[in-house]
Amino acid sequence: MNSPKNEGIFGCRGIDISFGGRPVLKNIGLSVTNHEVLGLVGPNGAGKTSLFEVLCGRYTAGAGQVWFGDEDITQTSVHDRARKGLARTYQSPVVPSAMRVAEVLRAARFSHKPYLTRFDAEWSCHLAHLHIDWDISAGALDTFDRRKLLLACLLMRKPKVLLLDEPASGLINSEIDELDLIIRRLVDEFAIGAILIEHRLELLSAIADRTVVLDQGKVIATGTPREVFDDPRVYAAYFEEPVDA
Ligand SMILES: Nc1ncnc2c1ncn2[C@@H]1O[C@H](COP(=O)(O)OP(=O)(O)O)[C@@H](O)[C@H]1O
Ligand SMILES: [Mg+2]
Repeated sequence: MNSPKNEGIFGCRGIDISFGGRPVLKNIGLSVTNHEVLGLVGPNGAGKTSLFEVLCGRYTAGAGQVWFGDEDITQTSVHDRARKGLARTYQSPVVPSAMRVAEVLRAARFSHKPYLTRFDAEWSCHLAHLHIDWDISAGALDTFDRRKLLLACLLMRKPKVLLLDEPASGLINSEIDELDLIIRRLVDEFAIGAILIEHRLELLSAIADRTVVLDQGKVIATGTPREVFDDPRVYAAYFEEPVDA
């Protein structure tokens, strides 16, 4: 049987994963295209982060396929996926606190082959709106600057797809507006795709072109943020007790 044609630059189909016999993701398919921000939304525990773990290769799915362009990368290692242009951030912006910003950026430069230049680091800080003194200890940065620093470390590698796990978490509204600008510019200027996790549906309307809603490991709605906001299944997932709880 021929494989279905991949729509977009990156995605997955038919992903299942269970932990201790409990299904956490059930037949998940999604894709992102260049210039697109895809919002991945759903209540806590819906399976959003687990899906990112599968997409970046840290978890092995029980079934399904992950693809990048025309290539099946289901069996590809985390590092090889990163080399192909997949970049991922985590819900908690953990930075090496004892290192200065300059040292963190240098470590990121030297983790790439061939080594990246100081110019690459300056360029990626500019794109991430990280306008700080590089002599500061990374541990002294506030949440937003930590997120920007971690993003800058990824941008140096010129990724093609960004997976951002709750990047707005811990930010105040003005910072979220700035974050939206940063992401939108990256996606538009470099023709990349971004999948952005957020559990607050209302935050996606400003940034997401399209939204996939996950609840209890299943996709329950897709559409523009406005469309999914008005979907009764989405309302039920957020505001009503599960029937079998
Ligand atoms: N490594 C793991 N081992 C066992 N259970 C896990 C593991 N990773 C995630 N889960 C479970 O999967 C469910 C979904 O978690 P998660 O993907 O973090 O949800 P979300 O990011 O949507 O809040 C939770 O019940 C969580 O406990
Ligand atoms: Mg999560």
